[in-house]
Amino acid sequence: MENTIQFINQRTNNFKPEIGIILGSGLGELADEFCDVGINYSDIPDFACSTVAGHKGRLVFAEINGKKVVMMQGRIHFYEGHPLNIVTYPIKVLKALGIKTLILTNAAGAVNPEFNPADLMLISDHINFMGTNPLIGKNDDTLGVRFPDMSEIYRNDLRKLAKHCAEKLNIELREGVYLATTGPSYETPAEIRAYRLLGADAVGMSTVPEAVVANYCGLNVLGISCITNQAAGVGNTKLSHAEVIESANLAKNKFKGLIKEIIANI
Ligand code: HPA
Repeated sequence: MENTIQFINQRTNNFKPEIGIILGSGLGELADEFCDVGINYSDIPDFACSTVAGHKGRLVFAEINGKKVVMMQGRIHFYEGHPLNIVTYPIKVLKALGIKTLILTNAAGAVNPEFNPADLMLISDHINFMGTNPLIGKNDDTLGVRFPDMSEIYRNDLRKLAKHCAEKLNIELREGVYLATTGPSYETPAEIRAYRLLGADAVGMSTVPEAVVANYCGLNVLGISCITNQAAGVGNTKLSHAEVIESANLAKNKFKGLIKEIIANI
């Protein structure tokens, strides 16, 4: 960790971000619009690289609406073959850089039949269906406790703030439970019916490990999903990554507007 932090501090001239944002599939444009310093993951000591189309793989530092922000343009996924401690290592790096708030974003399939592609959904809570936990292993007592409480990962005050911002901008904001699978295959219709019974509104392949680690180490977490498709069997179309990227593109302007407004008000 010391190597990573030293390297980043050198490259950014000791930039001290207060807010971290992880930009999901197709939502990375915010980091193109605002970039004071960008560092490729491949250059950062101990950082894994992301290989998914639509994910750039760089850490971007910028001031947005008067707030110092660090953005992950592209995340590392479990399905790429990295263990969860590697997937969530960047969260610990952002914590060490000094952020207090983490905004997690992702592309997700709608399990709730009332949700439509290009809708934005505030994450109220999550279901970890990955079958593992990023905190497995020896605990680092300097970061958090062995058995951390997870009863309010996605902070009520931040959700309230996000709703106010959406209202102000006239953006419809859905709210619901995000369920994470390992991927990389999309779900079967039977799986989606089961997830609906379990209480899921949206399904995806990320975010949950990052949210668990962020909450564990005391960060205030806000989560927003961009609904990019109806999950398998909810509509009658087949799923493709191209459709996911296309819908994220449709939503990107309202998504960027909402995130900027939230940043201004945090
Ligand atoms: N399932 C899982 N992950 C996803 C989906 C989906 O339907 N859409 C975008 N990410």
